[in-house]
Amino acid sequence: MTGSAIRRDDPLRVVLVGAGSMGRAWRDTIEAAPDVELAGIADIDPAAAQSAADELGRPGLPVGTDAVTLAAATGARAVVDATVPEAHHPVTIAALFAGLAVLGEKPVADTVAKALSLAAAAEVTGELFMVSQSRRWNPQLFAFRVMAADLGAIGTLTTEFFRAPRFGGFRERMEHPLLVDMAIHAFDSARFVLGAEPVSAYCEAHNPPWSWYDGAAAATTVFEMEGGIRYTYTGSWCSPGAETSWNGAWRVSGEKGSALWDGDHEPVLHGDVQRADRERSPHSGIAGSLQVFVEALRTGVAPMGEVHENVLSLAMVEAAVRSAESGQRVLVDDVLAHAHAVALRDERHPDVRAALADWSSARSALTLPDGHC
Ligand SMILES: NC(=O)c1ccc[n+]([C@@H]2O[C@H](COP(=O)([O-])OP(=O)(O)OC[C@H]3O[C@@H](n4cnc5c(N)ncnc54)[C@H](O)[C@@H]3O)[C@@H](O)[C@H]2O)c1
Repeated sequence: MTGSAIRRDDPLRVVLVGAGSMGRAWRDTIEAAPDVELAGIADIDPAAAQSAADELGRPGLPVGTDAVTLAAATGARAVVDATVPEAHHPVTIAALFAGLAVLGEKPVADTVAKALSLAAAAEVTGELFMVSQSRRWNPQLFAFRVMAADLGAIGTLTTEFFRAPRFGGFRERMEHPLLVDMAIHAFDSARFVLGAEPVSAYCEAHNPPWSWYDGAAAATTVFEMEGGIRYTYTGSWCSPGAETSWNGAWRVSGEKGSALWDGDHEPVLHGDVQRADRERSPHSGIAGSLQVFVEALRTGVAPMGEVHENVLSLAMVEAAVRSAESGQRVLVDDVLAHAHAVALRDERHPDVRAALADWSSARSALTLPDGHC
């Protein structure tokens, strides 16, 4: 990471792009952060950008339809991208090549192939691209991870997620709303808790008869993780009654005992375990992501969530969807190899294409992010 480093005392001026529901949450978080300045808001819908500025009580805040143009006009050094997943690739590529660091909402992109192109673009430009998986910064998740580490060898990790939200809009039209829009949070947290990467996925997805979603609102996926650990995610988005927290309900089972986390309260350890006193996350939610992003630009040290580190969470989603559609167990390496081939075929920027071509494999490039920091 050599690009938009900032001095320790400089506030970071950012342009927010995407003024929808999550963009408004980001607007308020940026405005509240002591060392970050909101330089402007961009949205392809100019009225959305203006109303987001008006609601903030700053009607004179610069607004526009293009993040890079707005950043150039306002002296911003970074972009916070809260656009729809399909726009993450074009918005991020334009920003990185304009010399701007990017903090992007999850998912990194709408496909693993485009996510790989973005990782290569970060290498080529030397700019930081961090993906905000806000739920990873939960201090209770950090505590749960510490407990998992104290349990000795781990056998299984499970997440149960049962809720009944009525969103309306695009989620109710998606083919795999639970897997694609929500489960990525849990998949990403599972990688973090276990410190292990995914090997394969077997998934059954279905839509209960009373569902108000068009696509599969329920799914059960068994992942093999490194070391032979099995991670099971089972959930539904049309499950009224006894709803779990938005983080889901978690159990990790190891040779010395188990730990449980309901997603809302402190996790609990069960077993004859010597507890180590380890550091907790000082961060939480999207405010935590923003703080970590600013710190990374100040220190030049790649943060958790840096694009290379994040892509495997999206690869878990794609593996689960592919398994649900084929009825077969899917290897994550096959998902990565296919995505690498698609990225090489579709990438138009010659330098990004050359960087992708240099990778011996996508897995090794993601594991050993040569040259990006
Ligand atoms: N971390 C979380 O808990 C969480 C929760 C909800 C949504 N999200 C993520 O946040 C992102 C936004 O979701 P949302 O619910 O706010 O969507 P939304 O549809 O409410 O808002 C998206 C906005 O982006 C704008 N936009 C689309 N393409 C653009 C482009 N090329 N340039 C500029 N603006 C563009 C749209 O006009 C719209 O105003 C998604 O990636 C979603 O997955 C994360």
